[in-house]
Amino acid sequence: MDDDIYGIKKWGDDILEVLDNGNIGLKNPFYPSNPSIDLIKIIESLNERGISCPVLLRITDYLAFRIKQINESFFKAIKEVGYKGYYKGVFPVKVNQQAQVIDRIVDFGKEFDFGLEVGSKPELLIALAHDLSSESTIICNGIKDKEFINLATLSMKIGFKTILVLESLRELDLIIEVSKELNVRPLLGIRVKLTNKVSGNWSQSSGDRSAFGMSVEQIMKVITKLKVNNYLDCLVLQHSHLGSQIPDIIEIRKATQEACRFYSEMYKQGAPLEYLDLGGGLGIDYTGEQKSSLNSINYSLDEYCVNIVETVKYELDQSNVDHPIIITESGRACIASSSMLIFNILETTNFDSEKKTGNQFE
Ligand SMILES: Cc1ncc(COP(=O)(O)O)c(C=O)c1O
Repeated sequence: MDDDIYGIKKWGDDILEVLDNGNIGLKNPFYPSNPSIDLIKIIESLNERGISCPVLLRITDYLAFRIKQINESFFKAIKEVGYKGYYKGVFPVKVNQQAQVIDRIVDFGKEFDFGLEVGSKPELLIALAHDLSSESTIICNGIKDKEFINLATLSMKIGFKTILVLESLRELDLIIEVSKELNVRPLLGIRVKLTNKVSGNWSQSSGDRSAFGMSVEQIMKVITKLKVNNYLDCLVLQHSHLGSQIPDIIEIRKATQEACRFYSEMYKQGAPLEYLDLGGGLGIDYTGEQKSSLNSINYSLDEYCVNIVETVKYELDQSNVDHPIIITESGRACIASSSMLIFNILETTNFDSEKKTGNQFE
């Protein structure tokens, strides 16, 4: 009954419920038949230890479960669709740079070769301070100066699989210079600008108006330069990011289709591409409405994975291109359900109150 009032069944992701006493119960997703833990009891035990609200509670089991869910859902889709490549996700550090969070993501993600996406030098330093699995990748996005490129290139010498994603032609000059100085062949990616727009919060900065990614003309210039300098064999990844919290599965499908068309053209130009990185965007159903709207999504995690894998397979089979390793950079969808902000109620307002206090505030 209370579940219906609060709609928890719709947005609680099977990890929250309303207990018989009306309190919130936290379920253990790894052992769903175990009794839930009463949230008030956790708060009381924190109070006994001298910790009072507001409190940001992180539930590490929820983080571990979400990482497992995302990976397993992709593995399931790959099997169902008969896809010949595999999936290797990365966590975008910008979404939560807290050490407690990144440490856990790296630990829980190790068995899935889960890597990290970084967009700046400090974030790259965070990634390099972690014991990532040897098969996972560090994806370097963002504008890069010589120091950033130096650091990324040096990290390859100590065994990290660090991929420098080109945002501009200028960066390529710097990368060639650094790789010659350090005598290391770089691993390169190219960020493409998709023309597909998305609805939702990030609509304005998606499509042609996106500040990131290269146009077809710019990509052709990069490919020519890579060929002239004998660096085309280093181009292993294509990156795109449509926007966050994408509400509609059709938009995800269309963007994946467009990304695949860029991919097959670059492949045909002789780039030995291995990775197709589709960025973030996996949304969260905050309202539980299950529809394409600002704070909801019209798809499940399984549908997200199947739609991506199926589209990549179909598009690349049409062009006779080998199936790449699919990377996604889910940020919010990876961590949102694992933390909650709890604060004291300072005041309540009652409408249609039975009590006639003469004051609308009680
Ligand atoms: C390049 C890139 N990758 C991944 C993300 C994470 O997106 P999301 O949280 O929607 O998964 C973002 C945005 O925050 C981004 O700009």
